[in-house]
Amino acid sequence: MEAIKRKSLFIAFEGIDGSGKSTQLRRLTEFLQRKGYKVHTTAEPTTRPIGRMIRDIFNHRMVADNRTIAGLFVADRLDHILNKDDGMLRLLDEGYIVITDRYYMSSYAYQGAHVPLEWVIGANSLASELLRPDITIFIDMPVGKALDRVRKGRNTLELFESEDNIRQVTAMYEKVIKMIGSDENIVRINGDRSEDEVADEIETLVVAFLHDSLNS
Ligand code: ADP
Ligand code: TYD
Repeated sequence: MEAIKRKSLFIAFEGIDGSGKSTQLRRLTEFLQRKGYKVHTTAEPTTRPIGRMIRDIFNHRMVADNRTIAGLFVADRLDHILNKDDGMLRLLDEGYIVITDRYYMSSYAYQGAHVPLEWVIGANSLASELLRPDITIFIDMPVGKALDRVRKGRNTLELFESEDNIRQVTAMYEKVIKMIGSDENIVRINGDRSEDEVADEIETLVVAFLHDSLNS
């Protein structure tokens, strides 16, 4: 009973591009695996057909309206939750800790900057009812520094990665955290530190959560 409770943990990482999400997701995964947990890491947009279509739009291989993109993210997310091969509900059921790089808060922040936020939240309501993160780790990072990190890694920016857009997305994240903060367990982590410092704080937080859920 206790083991099932402990293992069915669902964590979402959120933050702007370059905030360090993927790096910290990898670090947390390795940390939990060293402790003996079964961990499944995943990301949105997914690598499945709907996710691939979204990436084609981001890489300018296909053109789509922002409203269409918002709809595709909803469909990709439902497939991410529900598909029978490696859907998140199935893996949680099998006892994996599931950690995702981005989830519905990304749609609120990124699509909410272009289409009405109420619509985005409504369109994602099935996903938020089906599977709500136990912890959403929001990595807070100044826009300029986050984009410097992205630019260092590659020389082109994807759709949505202009400085103006990322500033808008940052403002949307703040708005959304205020709006839904009381219904969700959102933990803000200062990402403007060394990789090790950020990883230590996240590990401490997740260990405390596992400990609490074990003892409740
Ligand atoms: P995201 O997934 O949020 O876009 P990444 O984890 O891919 O961010 O990090 C973006 C870039 O910044 C990568 O090149 C990564 O190595 C680097 N990076 C990540 N965390 C830190 C950190 N704490 N300090 C300095 N550079 C970092
Ligand atoms: P990705 O290459 O995974 O970027 P990163 O590693 O920086 O997260 O692409 C994800 C992009 O998709 C990113 O710019 C944010 C955007 N996005 C949305 O616009 N809406 C969403 O619902 C999600 C999940 C991502």
